[in-house]
Amino acid sequence: MPHFPNLFSPFKIGSMAVKNRIVMPAMETHLCDKEGFVTPEVISYYRARAKGGVGYITVENTSIDPAGRINDGMLCIHEDKYVDGLKRLGEEVHGAGGKVVIQLNHAGKEALTYFTGMESVSPSPIPSPLTRTVPRELTILEIEAIVDKFAQGAERVFRAGADGVEIHMAHGYLVCQFLSPESNIRTDRYGGDTEGRARFAVEIVQSIRSKVPKDFPVICRISADEYTEKGLKLEEGKVIARLLESAGASALHVSACNSASAVYNIPCYYLEEGCFIHLASGIKSAVKVPVITVGRILRPEMAEESLRGGKADLVSMGRSLIADPYWPKKVEEGRLEDIRPCISCNRCIESIVEERLVCTVNPCIGREWELERKPMPVAKKVLVVGGGPAGLSAAAVAGEMGHKIWLWEKEPLLGGKYRYASMAPKKEYMRKFLDYLIKQAKKYATDIQCNKEATVEAIKEFAPEVVILANGAKDEFLQIPGVSNNHLMEVLDAFNEAGSLGANVAIVGGGPEGCELADYLLTQGKQVTIIEMRRVLGLGLVAHPRYHISERLKKAGAKIMINTKVLEVGRGFIVVSRRGEDKQKLDGFDSIIMSCLHRPNDALADPLKKWIKEVHVVGDAVQGRTALEAVAEGACAALKL
Ligand SMILES: Cc1cc2nc3c(=O)[nH]c(=O)nc-3n(C[C@H](O)[C@H](O)[C@H](O)COP(=O)(O)OP(=O)(O)OC[C@H]3O[C@@H](n4cnc5c(N)ncnc54)[C@H](O)[C@@H]3O)c2cc1C
Ligand SMILES: Cc1cc2nc3c(=O)[nH]c(=O)nc-3n(C[C@H](O)[C@H](O)[C@H](O)COP(=O)(O)O)c2cc1C
Ligand code: SF4
Repeated sequence: MPHFPNLFSPFKIGSMAVKNRIVMPAMETHLCDKEGFVTPEVISYYRARAKGGVGYITVENTSIDPAGRINDGMLCIHEDKYVDGLKRLGEEVHGAGGKVVIQLNHAGKEALTYFTGMESVSPSPIPSPLTRTVPRELTILEIEAIVDKFAQGAERVFRAGADGVEIHMAHGYLVCQFLSPESNIRTDRYGGDTEGRARFAVEIVQSIRSKVPKDFPVICRISADEYTEKGLKLEEGKVIARLLESAGASALHVSACNSASAVYNIPCYYLEEGCFIHLASGIKSAVKVPVITVGRILRPEMAEESLRGGKADLVSMGRSLIADPYWPKKVEEGRLEDIRPCISCNRCIESIVEERLVCTVNPCIGREWELERKPMPVAKKVLVVGGGPAGLSAAAVAGEMGHKIWLWEKEPLLGGKYRYASMAPKKEYMRKFLDYLIKQAKKYATDIQCNKEATVEAIKEFAPEVVILANGAKDEFLQIPGVSNNHLMEVLDAFNEAGSLGANVAIVGGGPEGCELADYLLTQGKQVTIIEMRRVLGLGLVAHPRYHISERLKKAGAKIMINTKVLEVGRGFIVVSRRGEDKQKLDGFDSIIMSCLHRPNDALADPLKKWIKEVHVVGDAVQGRTALEAVAEGACAALKL
């Protein structure tokens, strides 16, 4: 059994004693109501993480000022009326054996003015890299008022019975804007050298200290490196860390980036695991207070190593705890293979731009009670058709509810299209998730058969009470002159037969699948041309991976033709027309790969509905999308049984 003695050793930050070194960092959920009050969903979400055994939870960034609220998905604490809800939340977390710290934030120039209805503010009138809005420069009186608002917020956190408070000084929000030489060009006492730029942060800590007991934890979250040309770098981060320590900070939570470098801040699968540990280690060398590290630390071995090596005192694991609230308990009990792994796809962060938090691998965010199922009084005979993510998810959830599940998959292997997702470079965590799904389905299903094609006749003969159709999309080539000749290959076949494609390959369609195939073929030393009709590559991908894959393809020397329409394909050649230019014949390809349209698949649904009372269609069979919808719809269909 793996043993992680450092990770599971107790620790103290001020008056807060924690049972282990695992921290849940602040992560917005948008589960609050539009006015920023705690809802039952917020409570359900955090209670589950407390039950899962995390050392302490940092509640998502909570607004200390209506003008600094990013949008209407952000919790609030700028008035006393918010204290009761936060108190209830704290009591639930405590009841589940956890500790709770609340993060306070003012978004500064990153507050969305169309939402707040107020001007955005910042130390200097430098546009927001995200919204391009030019903020108004704060006056000294206004700065002092905001310092006071942070202190009032912290005092409310204390009154709400929380175990500590964290001040968001990272990621390009207001305090970070003051600290940064990039966004603070003031010449008064709140600008200039490091000490001047840090004055706002220091005064916040001092002001909070005057309002809460001496040992009440006041944690400062900083971006030790902003990952931009003119932003903060580690050496200056160390000076700031020392100033915060002297002002009374109880611990430093060391993150990175600002809004101009957001593609690195929440590291997606293209970035290295543990990519900010060196920053925590650098800060730790400069201060005596405890230091928390964060950033794609997915495996307990890495967490343990960063503690053992003295690089940090605690380890923050954000998305791993979104994906599986029980990560700490499972690790402590040595059940590593039961962990539902975060695949670093960043659908979560994209989701909260407009909606509530969702996760590709965890379909029950904010309604965790739904997964705490009791066996159903009457077990139904259920046939699941298709062993991709949707079918596996349906089989596992329905099986766990006590139904009798049979799953038929026509291919020799389970996994559906998702098997190819993990073949692309840097996407090996997709395989881990697939293995998890397969393991869960096998654990709870009565029988799983591969090489078994479901036909209407076979299903009728089997006579299930319920059929869950998870048989994937109907794939069709784009309709272009020449495609009917059988010299073209599909993306999935190209993954399987990369060795026989020859040296010079063209991919028609630079969507997610085309881009990932290109990435894969480039690592095999092939020359790759991607032809895409739209003006950007990878449309449909989450923004962060889309940025990184475009960079990877450019760096690896792919020939990228965007705004380019394919008019005809033939053996070894493609005729294209670039916007505003004449036709062009591209010749000499050894292979041409065509992306497909993913159509709804109703081949079985319509005939079956005449015979079977309960037929559910889920995943790509409804419409070609992603694993997120497949996993969620599979689970939802099961929960309806
Ligand atoms: C290269 C590539 C990369 C991708 N990357 C990502 C990614 O990073 N993130 C993401 O979320 N999504 C990704 N996707 C998309 C994702 O794989 C699909 O959205 C997901 O697999 C859909 O799941 P599904 O279970 O609905 O369908 P599928 O995965 O298509 O599974 C359907 C299954 O049903 C079986 N089947 C069909 N008909 C029958 C029948 N009559 N009898 C028995 N079995 C049958 C099929 O053989 C198949 O195994 C990627 C896809 C590809 C191709
Ligand atoms: C959905 C989501 C919301 C986030 N919201 C916040 C936030 O409110 N405050 C904050 O300081 N960081 C926020 N972050 C950043 C995380 O706290 C953390 O630094 C980041 O996810 C990297 O850690 P991880 O790799 O362990 O997930 C958020 C991240 C995610 C994924
Ligand atoms: S959405 Fe993706 S990155 Fe976010 S927690 Fe879930 S698996 Fe991890």
